[in-house]
Amino acid sequence: MTGCHSGITYNQQYFAVTTSHRPSPVQVSLANKLSDELSVPFIPRNDLSIETMISNTGVIGMMVVSAQRISFFTGISEFFFHPGLAKLRINELKNGKTDQMIQAMSLGAGDTLLDCTLGLGTDAIVASYVSGTSGKVTGIESSILIAAIVGHGLKTYQDEDISQAMQRVEVAHSHHKDYLAGLPARSYDVVYFDPMFRTPRKKSPAMDAMRAIANPDPIDRETIALALKVCNKRVVMKERRWSKEFERLGFKEIRGGRYAPVVYGVIDRQGMV
Ligand SMILES: C[S@@+](CC[C@H](N)C(=O)[O-])C[C@H]1O[C@@H](n2cnc3c(N)ncnc32)[C@H](O)[C@@H]1O
Repeated sequence: MTGCHSGITYNQQYFAVTTSHRPSPVQVSLANKLSDELSVPFIPRNDLSIETMISNTGVIGMMVVSAQRISFFTGISEFFFHPGLAKLRINELKNGKTDQMIQAMSLGAGDTLLDCTLGLGTDAIVASYVSGTSGKVTGIESSILIAAIVGHGLKTYQDEDISQAMQRVEVAHSHHKDYLAGLPARSYDVVYFDPMFRTPRKKSPAMDAMRAIANPDPIDRETIALALKVCNKRVVMKERRWSKEFERLGFKEIRGGRYAPVVYGVIDRQGMV
């Protein structure tokens, strides 16, 4: 993970790092490393429950390094990395099927993508598979917890079919507006946004866990203007089919399956200065 800017949803005062019960030396060393990198306390587990640790320390949640993964526990929900539908989508592409996001991006081998809303990284993994070893995918995430957990997951999750695509995704912890403002014009072929929906589509424990630590802010017009400067080909935004966000942010062209509840707004750079 690189970079550290503003726009942190959960900051240093709110959480601490620990391990699962009876940790290996590797877990303890990773927990200490995270504590240094994120400037948050490391608290040895000492047989305590996460709930007790939260109420003893007054934090909102604990980052827990276990043998399998890094999670963030709030006492109600657990957030951890998993590749979601990425593998299924990549298999569909391998079988010659269309992926609506890739089509809307017009992404191909060797292309570069700036994913301004990394989240769990599912879209970034699919894009990384398509852009291949000659391309590049950078994922920007403003929640320090999501950036750290997903950044670690992408580098370490074992799946022989998609490990390489996952490992190629570069993660930066930053507010996307700050990040975009620091980039030269035409630095990426495509700039992509998939903001949190204003209201959740469906209730699920995984989505609730993410919502607890994600940045819920809407995108502003200035950010889209910056994205249009930074892209070489187009800016793409995923939203609900009838979302008013498309109009508000200047997306006139909408792509996606005819009956899909979620579609992609596209603004081409062509014709712009
Ligand atoms: C709906 S999720 C993205 C899901 C992602 N496309 C995937 O495939 O997993 C939106 C993510 O964008 C992040 N986010 C929202 N506003 C942001 C901003 N201004 N800068 C960087 N990340 C942001 C949220 O914290 C959240 O993790």
